Amino acid sequence: TLLIGPDACGHHHPDFNLGIFMLGPRTLYRDHNHDAPELYLNLSEKSGWRFGTRDWQDYPAGSLIWNAAGEPHATRVYDQPFISVFVWLENVNSPCNVIHFDDWAEVEQDLAKQPN
Ligand SMILES: [Fe+2]
Repeated sequence: TLLIGPDACGHHHPDFNLGIFMLGPRTLYRDHNHDAPELYLNLSEKSGWRFGTRDWQDYPAGSLIWNAAGEPHATRVYDQPFISVFVWLENVNSPCNVIHFDDWAEVEQDLAKQPN
Protein backbone atom coordinates (compact mmCIF):
# COMPACT_ATOMS: atom_id res chain seq x y z
CA THR A 1 0.00 0.00 0.00
CA LEU A 2 1.51 3.29 -1.10
CA LEU A 3 0.73 6.12 1.34
CA ILE A 4 3.00 8.76 -0.21
CA GLY A 5 4.14 8.77 -3.84
CA PRO A 6 3.19 9.41 -7.45
CA ASP A 7 0.13 7.15 -7.32
CA ALA A 8 -0.40 6.96 -3.57
CA CYS A 9 -3.76 6.58 -1.90
CA GLY A 10 -2.66 9.22 0.64
CA HIS A 11 -0.34 12.10 -0.20
CA HIS A 12 0.92 12.81 -3.72
CA HIS A 13 4.67 13.21 -4.22
CA PRO A 14 6.36 12.95 -7.64
CA ASP A 15 9.65 11.41 -6.49
CA PHE A 16 9.28 9.88 -3.03
CA ASN A 17 7.54 6.71 -1.87
CA LEU A 18 6.44 5.62 1.56
CA GLY A 19 4.19 2.67 2.16
CA ILE A 20 3.43 -0.60 3.85
CA PHE A 21 5.07 -3.59 2.20
CA MET A 22 4.04 -7.19 2.83
CA LEU A 23 5.21 -10.58 1.61
CA GLY A 24 3.49 -13.89 2.20
CA PRO A 25 4.95 -16.71 4.30
CA ARG A 26 7.77 -18.84 2.85
CA THR A 27 8.53 -16.35 0.09
CA LEU A 28 11.86 -15.51 -1.49
CA TYR A 29 11.95 -11.95 -2.76
CA ARG A 30 14.78 -12.56 -5.19
CA ASP A 31 18.01 -10.62 -5.40
CA HIS A 32 17.60 -7.29 -7.12
CA ASN A 33 18.73 -3.68 -7.15
CA HIS A 34 17.41 -0.29 -8.21
CA ASP A 35 18.57 3.31 -8.42
CA ALA A 36 16.14 4.26 -5.66
CA PRO A 37 17.79 4.35 -2.21
CA GLU A 38 15.56 2.22 0.00
CA LEU A 39 14.81 2.00 3.71
CA TYR A 40 12.84 -0.75 5.45
CA LEU A 41 11.53 -0.63 8.98
CA ASN A 42 10.90 -4.28 9.76
CA LEU A 43 7.74 -4.96 11.76
CA SER A 44 7.87 -8.76 11.63
CA GLU A 45 9.46 -10.83 14.36
CA LYS A 46 12.09 -12.29 12.02
CA SER A 47 13.05 -11.86 8.36
CA GLY A 48 16.12 -12.97 6.42
CA TRP A 49 18.22 -10.63 4.30
CA ARG A 50 21.32 -10.84 2.15
CA PHE A 51 23.22 -8.14 0.36
CA GLY A 52 25.02 -9.35 -2.75
CA THR A 53 26.40 -12.54 -1.21
CA ARG A 54 25.04 -16.01 -0.48
CA ASP A 55 25.09 -15.33 3.27
CA TRP A 56 21.78 -14.69 4.99
CA GLN A 57 21.23 -12.82 8.24
CA ASP A 58 18.04 -12.59 10.27
CA TYR A 59 16.72 -9.23 11.46
CA PRO A 60 14.16 -8.65 14.23
CA ALA A 61 11.15 -6.37 14.45
CA GLY A 62 12.29 -2.78 14.83
CA SER A 63 15.42 -3.24 12.73
CA LEU A 64 16.23 -0.93 9.86
CA ILE A 65 17.54 -2.09 6.48
CA TRP A 66 19.25 0.52 4.32
CA ASN A 67 19.84 -0.33 0.66
CA ALA A 68 21.92 2.38 -1.01
CA ALA A 69 21.21 3.08 -4.67
CA GLY A 70 22.30 0.15 -6.84
CA GLU A 71 23.16 -2.18 -3.96
CA PRO A 72 21.86 -5.75 -4.36
CA HIS A 73 19.52 -7.20 -1.76
CA ALA A 74 17.10 -10.09 -1.22
CA THR A 75 14.57 -11.03 1.46
CA ARG A 76 13.34 -14.39 2.66
CA VAL A 77 10.17 -14.84 4.67
CA TYR A 78 9.68 -17.68 7.13
CA ASP A 79 6.43 -19.05 8.64
CA GLN A 80 4.76 -15.73 9.30
CA PRO A 81 4.02 -12.98 6.76
CA PHE A 82 6.59 -10.22 6.43
CA ILE A 83 5.36 -6.69 7.03
CA SER A 84 7.38 -3.48 6.93
CA VAL A 85 7.30 0.22 6.32
CA PHE A 86 9.33 1.01 3.21
CA VAL A 87 10.65 4.25 1.76
CA TRP A 88 12.19 5.03 -1.62
CA LEU A 89 13.86 8.40 -1.23
CA GLU A 90 14.27 9.31 -4.92
CA ASN A 91 14.35 7.80 -8.40
CA VAL A 92 11.05 6.12 -7.65
CA ASN A 93 10.39 5.43 -11.32
CA SER A 94 13.68 3.58 -11.80
CA PRO A 95 13.40 -0.08 -12.81
CA CYS A 96 13.97 -2.97 -10.46
CA ASN A 97 16.77 -5.14 -11.88
CA VAL A 98 16.82 -8.84 -11.03
CA ILE A 99 20.30 -10.12 -10.13
CA HIS A 100 20.63 -13.82 -10.80
CA PHE A 101 21.80 -16.15 -8.04
CA ASP A 102 22.06 -19.86 -8.75
CA ASP A 103 20.63 -20.88 -5.36
CA TRP A 104 17.08 -19.54 -5.73
CA ALA A 105 15.53 -22.98 -6.20
CA GLU A 106 17.42 -24.32 -3.18
CA VAL A 107 16.35 -21.38 -0.98
CA GLU A 108 12.72 -21.72 -2.06
CA GLN A 109 12.74 -25.46 -1.39
CA ASP A 110 14.18 -24.88 2.09
CA LEU A 111 11.52 -22.26 2.86
CA ALA A 112 8.79 -24.61 1.68
CA LYS A 113 9.78 -27.56 3.84
CA GLN A 114 11.50 -26.28 6.97
CA PRO A 115 9.88 -24.91 10.08
CA ASN A 116 11.76 -21.66 10.68
FE1 LIG B 1 14.52 -3.30 -3.13
